[in-house]
Amino acid sequence: MLDTRISRRAALIGGATAAAWLASPARALIEAAGRLAVPAFVDDLIARMTLEEKAGQLQLMASAWGGGIATALNPPAGEANFPKQVDEARQGQLTGVFNGNGARMARILQTAAVKESRLKIPLMFAADIIHGHRTIFPVPLAEVASFEPDLARRTAEAAAFEASGAGIDWTFSPMVDIARDQRWGRGVEGGGEDVLLGELFAAARVRGFQGADLKSTEHMLACIKHFAAYGAAESGLDYNSVDMSEARLREVYLQPYKAGFDAGALSGMASFNDINGVPSTGNRWLMTDLLRGEWGFQGFVVSDYTGDEEMIAHGFAKDGRDAARLALLAGVDMSMQSGLYRQHLPDLVRKGEVPQAVLDQSVRRVLAMKAMVGLFDNPFRRIDEKRETARSMLPKTRALAREAGRKSIVLLKNDGDLLPLPRSGKRIALVGPFASGLHDLVGPWVVYGDDRKAVDLETGVRAAVADKASVIVAPGSGVEEPLAGGIAQAVAAARQADVVILAIGEGANMSGEAQSRTEIVVPEPQQTLAEAVAAVGKPVVVVLKHGRALALQGAVANAQAILATWFLGTETGNAIADILFGAYGPSGRLPASFPRASGQEPYYYGHKSTGRPNPPGPLEPYKAHFRGIPNSALYPFGHGLTYGKIAYVDLNVANRMAMNGEIVISAGIANHGTRAAEEVVQLYIHDRTASATRPVRELKAFRKIALAPGESKTVEFRLRAADLAFYGLQNRPVVEPGTFDVWVAPSAESDGVHGSFELVA
Ligand code: NOJ
Repeated sequence: MLDTRISRRAALIGGATAAAWLASPARALIEAAGRLAVPAFVDDLIARMTLEEKAGQLQLMASAWGGGIATALNPPAGEANFPKQVDEARQGQLTGVFNGNGARMARILQTAAVKESRLKIPLMFAADIIHGHRTIFPVPLAEVASFEPDLARRTAEAAAFEASGAGIDWTFSPMVDIARDQRWGRGVEGGGEDVLLGELFAAARVRGFQGADLKSTEHMLACIKHFAAYGAAESGLDYNSVDMSEARLREVYLQPYKAGFDAGALSGMASFNDINGVPSTGNRWLMTDLLRGEWGFQGFVVSDYTGDEEMIAHGFAKDGRDAARLALLAGVDMSMQSGLYRQHLPDLVRKGEVPQAVLDQSVRRVLAMKAMVGLFDNPFRRIDEKRETARSMLPKTRALAREAGRKSIVLLKNDGDLLPLPRSGKRIALVGPFASGLHDLVGPWVVYGDDRKAVDLETGVRAAVADKASVIVAPGSGVEEPLAGGIAQAVAAARQADVVILAIGEGANMSGEAQSRTEIVVPEPQQTLAEAVAAVGKPVVVVLKHGRALALQGAVANAQAILATWFLGTETGNAIADILFGAYGPSGRLPASFPRASGQEPYYYGHKSTGRPNPPGPLEPYKAHFRGIPNSALYPFGHGLTYGKIAYVDLNVANRMAMNGEIVISAGIANHGTRAAEEVVQLYIHDRTASATRPVRELKAFRKIALAPGESKTVEFRLRAADLAFYGLQNRPVVEPGTFDVWVAPSAESDGVHGSFELVA
């Protein structure tokens, strides 16, 4: 019955995956330069290596330099003993180290490896360059709010320029895990809730980090992580299990990884979670059949930090030896931090439990990559103390951080056009724990950045206003603790002012790894501060700091204006001031939906309709909603206002599209306001009836356009049948004829202009 229905209605796009690979830039890159051809010396080397030396090439460890700062962002890893680590390099027991501290350290270790080890194989230096090296850019999620993938390419390239100057060959980035549950803390490192944005930003970041030539001393190897579906952890609890259909895995969660690999990333990192009962680190289907077999990936895979060892706690491996065996056989080439590969692989091979060919294959992949990043030509190519300093925090890099900061800010609300604020003639109370001070600026996941080198909000605001004395600052509250006398002081400041800027939200340590939250709200002492300040009755602009979408309540939600500013990095204060005072119009759009309440999570715009949808309007009994609130977003994915007045008119869409044809969809976008605006015009579809239920909306394309006051533009999109495909019941892409709704709209939950068309077989 089911099969008949599929064969009658469905046009399978067989070989779509293969076609994508054939057309991919990675393939072009590899073929154009024959780069993945493993140099002959690699095989000669392998032939001369002992089993211990081979296992050493598959063992990556946190740098023990500087008292072990490398482990500051991970669980402690025992005593940091740098001389011992240098000795391991000498003995060939190490493939490289990560999160070490710069060129000086790298020179010492590399010298031991290439001058004093038996085979003189160079080390590779890795680091978590997540959103900048010394100059810190907005957190990755914030940058996605720009809806400008090329911005992410440029900031990744600038980060690579600084980091490669400091001896770093390889970044553990981009993190491309789709995150649809805002309780999870690591959404801050990724691309948000949407597939299309996830794909575009993954690819852009890879291109930025790697550039056109992996040997370039201004670029470095990228690593797609965390493969796979780490962002789908049940209940948003970090490290938790993932259990989902293969169709959803392929259609949603796998897409950004694939886009990153297709863009040329030649390393990947296994995720901590298990998927349908199998930890990724031991998942042969994932690491070998899919990644290498189906997708044609040619690089190497590293475990996450002790990820192989954690298979024991998962209940999948019985001990360390078993864990090393399972991980290598699954296709995880390199072990991070547990030490299990170098401890057990030689014996596993000797006893015949791991074929030597499997070990050799992983060593070959790793050595080939060391060759590709140029380490065999010159092991010191990225190690240069002078260059490290000379490249650090250059004015042009800071200017890019400021640009990225401005473009990442989302104007959620602007009642009565409170913003932009005038530069003179108003007394401003700058209130809240994030109003002033060199803290919580660079944000989570920063190894080398420094709040002390960043610009806080007070500095940015004072630089923007004509009269510096017109700004009164009062912290009002701590981040998670009240501040003695803080509220009284803040209320007094608000009374003296014409407008309040309330800088509140999450501290930098409230998102990132292991920072899941049950209530995704503004912490209580700050909410209390907001209520007290609002009661003064002055207009309030809320400037939110956050690493996730928040559920805004009370006086925060009711403020006249709200700016979502995330963690913007080195240029935080300047970027926010640019928007507050109108030097730059807000153009960001939410990459993750802001729910009405924490309990709605996981809330994402592309949900299914259910059999009892509850349409906008009064709540209906026995329809899908939580008690007392509609199950919609307070601020949906894609939402963001401008300083213009934008209207969507005149949708133009043909009523039929042929399976082998394309359809043109256009709409008029007008700015009726008196200020210039940049609008992100979004195209959504909905497949009304299909052989498997479909999301209520899917983003298919978007365009950012500039509109002068009074200007109108026609924006045109084109869709082909492949754009309407979904993963059907056979876990393959399928396109089915039928009716499709289409919206050109300013967000995932606004009407914009709406029509429909028929896809005919
Ligand atoms: C654990 C994190 O999950 C991963 O993203 C990171 O790259 C490693 N630690 C190394 O710091």
